[in-house]
Amino acid sequence: MSVHGKSASLEGATSKRLSIPEFAARKGAEPLVCLTAYTTPMAQRLDGHVDLLMVGDSLGMVLYGFDSTLPVTLDMMIQHGAAVCRGSRTSLVVVDMPFGSYQESPEQAFRSAARIMKETGCQAVKLEGGRDLADTVSFLVKRGVPVMGHVGLMPQSVNTLGGYRARGRGDQEAAGVMADAIAIAEAGAFSIVLEGVMEQIAQAVTARVPVPIIGIGASAACDGQVLVAEDILGLFSSFKPRFVKRYAELGADIEEAAARYAADVRTRSFPGPEHIFGAMKKHG
Ligand code: KIV
Repeated sequence: MSVHGKSASLEGATSKRLSIPEFAARKGAEPLVCLTAYTTPMAQRLDGHVDLLMVGDSLGMVLYGFDSTLPVTLDMMIQHGAAVCRGSRTSLVVVDMPFGSYQESPEQAFRSAARIMKETGCQAVKLEGGRDLADTVSFLVKRGVPVMGHVGLMPQSVNTLGGYRARGRGDQEAAGVMADAIAIAEAGAFSIVLEGVMEQIAQAVTARVPVPIIGIGASAACDGQVLVAEDILGLFSSFKPRFVKRYAELGADIEEAAARYAADVRTRSFPGPEHIFGAMKKHG
């Protein structure tokens, strides 16, 4: 059996998951496929098709109906991270550090990251931030916590950024995105998510920064892509951001199934004889 192009027998008895060094070695090579997952059943469906499952704090908006990712707690991320690890075997699992769990100090970040890794079984954490967070990334990496960076549009900073508009429109902002990505890579991040930036900047960052750049609303030139699974499945909302491509319309399928079930219950066509115990057989 082959997992991620490697012989399973060489993977060792403990894990068939794509490792951090294997992921990092894909810089400039075959594009890395990443999707979010928040639950065991979703992880089971996606594992085997992707290289990385991202337990994103977007779950606050997608699953819990919050207006932003800010209310998401460490406990929520840990519960969902553990569920995704239980539902996957081959993907590298990365869990987002939620707002307020790492910005205070490198020590606070280490305590939060250690809880995430111990209590979920994930392989790495992701945190949002550029030059200002480089010391924290370095502190974590030196203590055995693999870190994925996240620069460009950083949803946890929605209040300071003033919204979710794409970053890097002017020269100064573009240079800032580049400087952030370089600083986070130099601090030891094994990969960086680059969200919501002008295409030319995404191309330049991917060419300049030596770790895999995973784009979302960025460029096909990135080393890989990530999207929210519910967005590509048509499950989240009727609004489709420009950077999302829909591969299914499961929201519409769910509504149709619910309507058919409701009609069956109201007309007593459900349950049928095949769904109940000890049903009398009809004689012809
Ligand atoms: O929170 C999230 O889901 C993310 C990914 C989309 C990158 O940060």
